[in-house]
Amino acid sequence: MARKPLKLGALIHGVGGNISAWRHPEVPVDASVSFPFYRKQALKAEEGKFDLVFIADGLYINEKSIPHFLNRFEPITILSALAAVTSRIGLVGTLSTSYSEPFTVARQFASLDHISGGRAGWNVVTSPLEGSALNYGKTEHPSHDERYQIAEEYLQVTKGLWDSWEDDAFVRDKESGVFFDPAKMHRLNHKGKYFSVQGPLNIARSRQGQPVIFQAGSSESGKTLAAKEADAVFTGAETIEEAKAFYEDVKARAVKFGRSEDDIVILPGIGPIIGRTEEEAERKYQEIANLVSIENALNYLGRFFDHFDFSQFPLDEPFPDIGDIGSNSFRSGTDKIKRNAKARNLTLRQVALQTATPRGEFVGTPEQVADRIQRWYEERAADGFIVHSNIPSDLHDFVDLVVPILQDRGIYRKEYESDTLRGNLGLPIPANRYTLAPSGR
Ligand SMILES: Cc1cc2nc3c(=O)[nH]c(=O)nc-3n(C[C@H](O)[C@H](O)[C@H](O)COP(=O)(O)O)c2cc1C
Repeated sequence: MARKPLKLGALIHGVGGNISAWRHPEVPVDASVSFPFYRKQALKAEEGKFDLVFIADGLYINEKSIPHFLNRFEPITILSALAAVTSRIGLVGTLSTSYSEPFTVARQFASLDHISGGRAGWNVVTSPLEGSALNYGKTEHPSHDERYQIAEEYLQVTKGLWDSWEDDAFVRDKESGVFFDPAKMHRLNHKGKYFSVQGPLNIARSRQGQPVIFQAGSSESGKTLAAKEADAVFTGAETIEEAKAFYEDVKARAVKFGRSEDDIVILPGIGPIIGRTEEEAERKYQEIANLVSIENALNYLGRFFDHFDFSQFPLDEPFPDIGDIGSNSFRSGTDKIKRNAKARNLTLRQVALQTATPRGEFVGTPEQVADRIQRWYEERAADGFIVHSNIPSDLHDFVDLVVPILQDRGIYRKEYESDTLRGNLGLPIPANRYTLAPSGR
């Protein structure tokens, strides 16, 4: 079977995912709460025929959080506004399964899916930060393993609720007065370890059947959940080797669950910085990197370890042994940081600065960046990428300069294939479970 064309998503991150990018002269200081900013970036991504925009989220902040996290939009709200000003691009947002209720969330994403004509996607996360519990009246943050158990049951409930109505359930016949066919309305009657939900949901399926499920955890439990339940995976990878191993691993897990490799789309995050020459690209990267002080970098690093205070250690000695700290937080991220530090014998200063402003492979001329994208795609390290940009023009440069090269090379679309997110990602519309087996329920 022919390979699906390359997929692209744009992570819109207001004043930047980098701790100091907001100080760059080009960044509007209120970008994280500016609808005009989000609209402009989303429209640029749509001009570049991107599959989707992606809005990340978190549920706990403190004085050490990065500026974008301190003052930003809630994902479903900003995506609903973007739905009204875009027409083709998918709208994907993060929502936590550890701090929400499936009935509410199923309604919210189904509503976004209807408002946008079938373009909604949900990035299912389990919430890494312990402090989140303090904002939701909980005595403690569930453990990493338990968060994934909750997420799995949660997804089964949500998907079940989304099938509450068969596609032809709403008769809406004014003449006879029949609004709906009760035989085509289904109660889920779920009673599980974590949730008890009767249903039915008070909204029908959309044009794409169900919102697209994204998953963003990369630990063993994260990969298993993705392979079982997700349509797409957002992941972080620094090298092509690392990305290939992840890609192979998740696709193989999906096959073990009886799915096809094509049923799950793998999208590593990249931060392309484009210059007319290699030197110009490098200078642009340095401009961002130089804005980061070591204190800021230590705070940024600390957040992955549940806001651990690294300032107590000497900066120019090997990265300290801090035991298991962080493993109940961003586990896959902290494992990787510790592994890298050891393998490459890095100091605390080096680890902090590299974590705060990772350079990645995608800094260079438009041709160089296109070459690397093509290589990762063709060597099956990725089905596509989530492009994040610290300064707004990084996305604009990518669309204006790299996208046409990818189109000329025939690996990326010139026009949208579909007007739903599933259609563009090449994913089938999931059949309604009740329509499939009506007598069994
Ligand atoms: C690429 C990527 C993006 C993520 N985006 C979010 C996010 O927007 N909000 C959030 O709370 N967690 C996010 N996470 C965190 C994960 O959901 C997860 O809680 C964390 O990585 C720990 O799980 P893991 O050990 O399975 O990776 C992201 C993780 C990765 C790798």
